[in-house]
Amino acid sequence: MVTPKHSSNGTRPGASATGIYAHIVGWGMAVPDKVLSNEDLAAIVETTDEWIMSRTGIKERRIASERETTATLGLRAAQKALDVADIFPAELDLIVCATSTPEYIFPSTASLIQSWLGASHAGAFDLSAACSGFVYGVNMAAQAIRSGSIQTALVLGAETMTRVMDWTDRATCILFGDGAGAVVLQASEIEGGVLSAVLRSDGGGCDLLGIPSVGSVDTQSAPLHSLEHKLGKMHMAGGEVFKFATRVISESIPQALEMAGVPMEDVKLIIPHQANARILQSAARALKIDDTLFMSNIERYGNTSAASIPIALCEAVEQGRVQPHDHIAFVGFGGGLTWAAMVVEWGVPEQAERPTRFTRQRRQLGYTVADWRMRMLRTSRHLNETVQRVRPKRGKMDRLRRKVERHPFD
Ligand code: COA
Repeated sequence: MVTPKHSSNGTRPGASATGIYAHIVGWGMAVPDKVLSNEDLAAIVETTDEWIMSRTGIKERRIASERETTATLGLRAAQKALDVADIFPAELDLIVCATSTPEYIFPSTASLIQSWLGASHAGAFDLSAACSGFVYGVNMAAQAIRSGSIQTALVLGAETMTRVMDWTDRATCILFGDGAGAVVLQASEIEGGVLSAVLRSDGGGCDLLGIPSVGSVDTQSAPLHSLEHKLGKMHMAGGEVFKFATRVISESIPQALEMAGVPMEDVKLIIPHQANARILQSAARALKIDDTLFMSNIERYGNTSAASIPIALCEAVEQGRVQPHDHIAFVGFGGGLTWAAMVVEWGVPEQAERPTRFTRQRRQLGYTVADWRMRMLRTSRHLNETVQRVRPKRGKMDRLRRKVERHPFD
């Protein structure tokens, strides 16, 4: 039996000296409609449904349409999370988007979402910790809330992994899919919420899993190129990553539980990063727990990187697998290498009530206003540029005037 660890000032785990707790009060997910089945993949690379299912547990994954991006999927997930939390975007103080597939290095995906939501008081940034990013982000937001510096935060995991796949690499392209999930965290004096977190990294494994990007040419990452990794495409040493994942899941969950003072027997559900069903089976054996304690939806979505934990969380809530005051754990692992585990006491029931139609409509109206604001800003900038271009340059006018003054009768 693990005894609860209290901080030096005697507060419960998860609280700070301020007595403020960070609760998850809203959640939402979005996946593209388009399904890419194992049979579809067999037409692209030499593989079979049987091989993929038996090695990974994946049956199908979602693939973004031309009009969908990491930010548009994230926006949809965020809007649903705000509906569940029944708060307005202007109440958000912070937006963190964990992603490895942003549209731009900058502006951040979080800034795009901030603008589309009309979250006019929020700071926004992207977080790069690969598949562990969502747990890192929730912890960053929870810390800021508990310190008293912010009240409300939106944390997303959003990805379009299929855009960075090397479709000739059959060991990798079969694993990944697209999607987004989001949670709203809010300050509360009610005990519970995020109780503990373990965040770790080992950059020594940087060559095992990665996506070479703009800065990787002529830099210290040159050795990556000697390994024939392709710019903008994911590479992975599957076997090594498999061993790493099994090890860190079984190490980090007990660490996070000990910090929270929650014994494993009290954990209702572990929501892990959805990478491979066999990884979860191995980790369950190492942890000496039944593998049904792990939430799994990998069969339908594959590995959606930073989005996989919030998507699985949404489905767990929908299936009634998470109830108020349950202790649940998140565990993520991936490129970096990075890994992270977290223990949460699930939120207070009244905050999860369905929003009234009126407040939902007001939010919808707010999104339309935010969209128009952005369009008008762009249009006025374009107009301004055009006017500047057609207006004769001042210097030219001055030279002309001087010429006329010098030779009035020419
Ligand atoms: N279809 C059919 N055969 C395939 C295949 C595919 N899609 N991909 C690889 N193979 C072949 C290999 O070429 C190899 O053939 P060979 O024995 O003739 O050389 C054989 O299957 C076994 O390859 P191996 O790499 O040993 O398979 P594996 O059992 O380790 O499974 C992974 C490969 C990628 C599924 C597995 O290593 C894995 O899931 N790793 C973790 C990946 C992960 O989760 N990454 C994300 C972490 S965030």
